[in-house]
Amino acid sequence: MKVLITGANGQLGRELVEYLSGNNEVLGFGREELDITSLESVFEIVKNESPEVIVHCAAFTAVDDAEQYPDSAYLVNAVGARNVAMAAEQQGSKLIYISTDYVFNGQATNPYCEYDNTDPQGIYGKSKRAGEVNVQTQCRKHFIVRTSWAYGKYGNNFVKTMIRLSKEKENLKVVADQIGSPTCIEDLCEFLSELMKTEKYGIYHASNTGVCSWYEFAHAIFEEIAADISLQPCATSDFPRPAKRPAYSVMEHRMIRINGFKEFRHWRDALSAFLSQNIEEGER
Ligand SMILES: NC(=O)c1ccc[n+]([C@@H]2O[C@H](COP(=O)([O-])OP(=O)(O)OC[C@H]3O[C@@H](n4cnc5c(N)ncnc54)[C@H](OP(=O)(O)O)[C@@H]3O)[C@@H](O)[C@H]2O)c1
Repeated sequence: MKVLITGANGQLGRELVEYLSGNNEVLGFGREELDITSLESVFEIVKNESPEVIVHCAAFTAVDDAEQYPDSAYLVNAVGARNVAMAAEQQGSKLIYISTDYVFNGQATNPYCEYDNTDPQGIYGKSKRAGEVNVQTQCRKHFIVRTSWAYGKYGNNFVKTMIRLSKEKENLKVVADQIGSPTCIEDLCEFLSELMKTEKYGIYHASNTGVCSWYEFAHAIFEEIAADISLQPCATSDFPRPAKRPAYSVMEHRMIRINGFKEFRHWRDALSAFLSQNIEEGER
């Protein structure tokens, strides 16, 4: 299959290019080669390459910066998604738009289903939701894949930050009142590679199964790497940030289940496998 990936130098884009390359013709475009905010560039490249599938990973992902630069966040996340969706529609390509748990308000007490009402609280979530709407209205052959708490080999993420801090600090506080599901990017890539072969369009929630707080996630990382650090739980209010974080962002995988896709493994199993495959013995 010929697959075009936007945001190919980002955390997900880079690993997805690598993951799919064995069995597909993969065209990865970073920001320098394809700025998704330019309608003309997006149309030109999608027309020239004529991919069967576009995986749209490019995004303005700096959640706190988005509060300060809302125009930039909407330009990339809403207008950029519109551009990619229009080009996909014109070329007849399938489109996978990667979205986020931040489209929900985080006030639920049960996992969010794919078709629950969205209610994003900050600019990042609002602009990503606007991107979803543009994808839904501009491209018929679309999938929207919402993920959460992603970590992988490339870029910065919570797992890598915890490993680094375990070497630099003796004590650490991590918030225990935000609950969600971590997602190992390799598992997300496996799901995306299966999804793109189908015509089972619509919204999907895609994270590892099981639930934890950031504190519990950090605790598991330190346990896996046998880190010599004292970890304490704290409250979100102890570390005020410009953007509000969802207190509860667990997502139910109803569409994975009823469309017959393989369920994700438990987050703890995925973490353990990720650390043993990607973190050198000496780095632990
Ligand atoms: N990471 C998570 O925990 C998480 C959770 C839920 C959903 N998601 C979603 O997953 C997707 C991938 O996220 P990620 O973790 O891979 O983020 P990332 O590492 O920040 O990658 C995003 C990429 O998009 C690029 N980009 C920004 N503006 C662009 C533009 N105008 N044109 C082309 N490329 C542009 C960035 O380039 P620069 O580096 O040059 O800015 C970056 O390489 C995003 O849609 C995000 O919203 C991520």
